[in-house]
Amino acid sequence: MTLWAHRMGSGPAPELMAFNESLSFDRALGPEDCEASAGHVRGLGRAGILTPQEVTTLSQALASVREELERDTFVFTGSDEDIHTAIERRVTELTGEIGAKLHTGRSRNDQVATALRLWSKHRVRELATALVALQDVLARRAEEAGELSLPGYTHLQRAQPVPLAHQLLAHAWALARDVDRLVDAHRRLDVSPLGAGALAGSTLGLDPVATAEDLGFSACFENSLDAVSDRDFVAEVLFCAAMVGVHLSRLGEEVVLYSSEEFGYYRLDDAFATGSSMLPQKKNPDIAELARAKAGRLIGHLTGLLATLKGLPLAYNKDLQEDKEPLFDAMAQLAVALPAITGMMATVRFDAEAMTRAADSEVLAAVDLAEWQVARGVPFRAAHGVVGALVRRSLESTTPLAELVRAEPSLGEEAAKLLAPGAAAAHHRTRGGAGHEAVRAQLDRFRTHLAAERARLGTLDAEQP
Ligand code: ARG
Repeated sequence: MTLWAHRMGSGPAPELMAFNESLSFDRALGPEDCEASAGHVRGLGRAGILTPQEVTTLSQALASVREELERDTFVFTGSDEDIHTAIERRVTELTGEIGAKLHTGRSRNDQVATALRLWSKHRVRELATALVALQDVLARRAEEAGELSLPGYTHLQRAQPVPLAHQLLAHAWALARDVDRLVDAHRRLDVSPLGAGALAGSTLGLDPVATAEDLGFSACFENSLDAVSDRDFVAEVLFCAAMVGVHLSRLGEEVVLYSSEEFGYYRLDDAFATGSSMLPQKKNPDIAELARAKAGRLIGHLTGLLATLKGLPLAYNKDLQEDKEPLFDAMAQLAVALPAITGMMATVRFDAEAMTRAADSEVLAAVDLAEWQVARGVPFRAAHGVVGALVRRSLESTTPLAELVRAEPSLGEEAAKLLAPGAAAAHHRTRGGAGHEAVRAQLDRFRTHLAAERARLGTLDAEQP
């Protein structure tokens, strides 16, 4: 029987049930729905609507339903439209008449919003924790890389040598901003909509503030219409997920390139690479490619949801049921992507020889020659011109640049030393720049940041549903 059976002259058409249901995808909300329902039951008890005995009976029934769901022994029926309907039906089966009181002063509209917020809080914390684990690996690999350098690229053309540690930390800082965004999103997630009812609250003496506190929310809704129709919290989590996806795609693309024979900087560990079904010699960077690919799907989930939300009238509309699949899928994708990417980065071997050979190409220090002249009073444009002309002559005549620099009156022997292998990273001084000392200091700051991030995550709700 449906929840609204008495209003209708006939039962629901199977076509309606097939199209209307969300049980096929919202089972994931089971634990959180039980948690929120138990909070609601305690609220009904505080308001004197349920007796202490009824509160105990319903709380126990909700605990066993939750166990059945977790053990996969819960038996669903054809009329279970969604997880909320299913749980209420089962509680009623277990408790008889008392079960009929569970939905007092509550609508599925505030119920689903509450469960989804609780679910999002838990998953956001897990995602942030997984991101911290990847950052940790990147920092460790940066430390291990020591003074090993490779070319830094702009336009994917070799530009200046950079320590590998600097390159790895660039990705780590981007992920740190993602964690920051997630913590920020968590703050706005942490608002209870329970008590908003269908859209206008109720006539019963329920206290939404006390219920919010009971369920571990930091705040309670201010406007019942907003509480049941707001899904910006989902959009925000999806943006965070999409941004993480974009960052992972850039790291993934780098691993694809660097592990190709053309670059040869990275060698993937056998456990984190795949082979080919036909070509016996192949070793493929599938994890890195999927890391690159998932961003498309994650961006799609965000834009899809925003399009669903656009123009919706207040308050609840069934359109809002479309929030779940993108959210669940986004978090599920990242939950499997991050451990794989973390493992890949933890085990990738660096080909020091290939990197050093490429980084030591003398033209990569050309701008340092110009800056050497600037330090001696030459305007930068003039210095740039002198070096540019020498690079051209070197390429045209296949004469090493250092030789031409030595012979150039405005440069000479001392300037030529800047072209020596490893000189660039030793001379670069800018804070946050690609000099070895600056990178060491940056790594220290990163570690401090990571420790603070970890501490912040510890302050988010620790208990799992
Ligand atoms: N399955 C529904 C959803 O996900 C639950 C809320 C249903 N509310 C309603 N008024 N029909 O949005």
